[in-house]
Amino acid sequence: MFTYALTRLPAKTYPEGITTADLGKPNMDLTIQQHQAYCQALSETGGHVISLPAAPDFPDSVFVEDAAVVTKDFAVITRPGAESRRGEIQLIEPALQPYFDQIFHITAPGTLDGGDICQAEKHFFIGISERTNPEGAKQLANILQQNNYTSSEVNIQSAGGLLHLKSGLAYLGENTMLLDEHLAEHPSFSQYRKLIVPSNETYAGNCLRFNDVVFAPKGFPKTENIIRQAGFKIVVLDTSEYRKMDGGLSCLSLRW
Ligand code: GLY
Repeated sequence: MFTYALTRLPAKTYPEGITTADLGKPNMDLTIQQHQAYCQALSETGGHVISLPAAPDFPDSVFVEDAAVVTKDFAVITRPGAESRRGEIQLIEPALQPYFDQIFHITAPGTLDGGDICQAEKHFFIGISERTNPEGAKQLANILQQNNYTSSEVNIQSAGGLLHLKSGLAYLGENTMLLDEHLAEHPSFSQYRKLIVPSNETYAGNCLRFNDVVFAPKGFPKTENIIRQAGFKIVVLDTSEYRKMDGGLSCLSLRW
């Protein structure tokens, strides 16, 4: 069970953030509504939602997941791969301090985005991407090992243009991995029950298991059906305004 989900309100500057999506500018009213619905849905599972104030100096800061990696025992402040996002870590650390006795840091020349990190029970998959470099991955692996977690790397640089590892993968619990087709045959996932996201629904690879619910993005009925048929309780949330800025369900919170 997760006790907490930490979120940050979207800033007025959100439409100025980084994106590769060609889906137009986000509508701010809808962005805020979708954020409220997301927080409400997380809290309905029994989680306590912590809401940080908007940070207009950092348009992408609503994607709070990239600035830290958290477990029940400790937090790691990352060093985001995009220059324009690096200052987000100065805001996230004081927000996490009241909850964690142990806080570690990724340091230069390492870079690491939380979106590249997927926890599956006691194991962490670390994506090597345009944002997370091998040095950042090595630093995180060492921190995890010191704290009795295992980890392995998954290079996604030729995996169909995924921004982050979790753009194309979600651990749903019960030994089940939701996988983008580019990751489906990766040897790292051979021991899991695999649910494969259909090729015309790639965005739906970013689902989120939180407590007893799998959250899935609206508009991807085949993936929704695959998850439901696999026996999971599913709640569908509209993330259209976050998709426009290359974000998704996992990006919007840190969970522990
Ligand atoms: N817009 C989210 C990111 O690029 O990090």
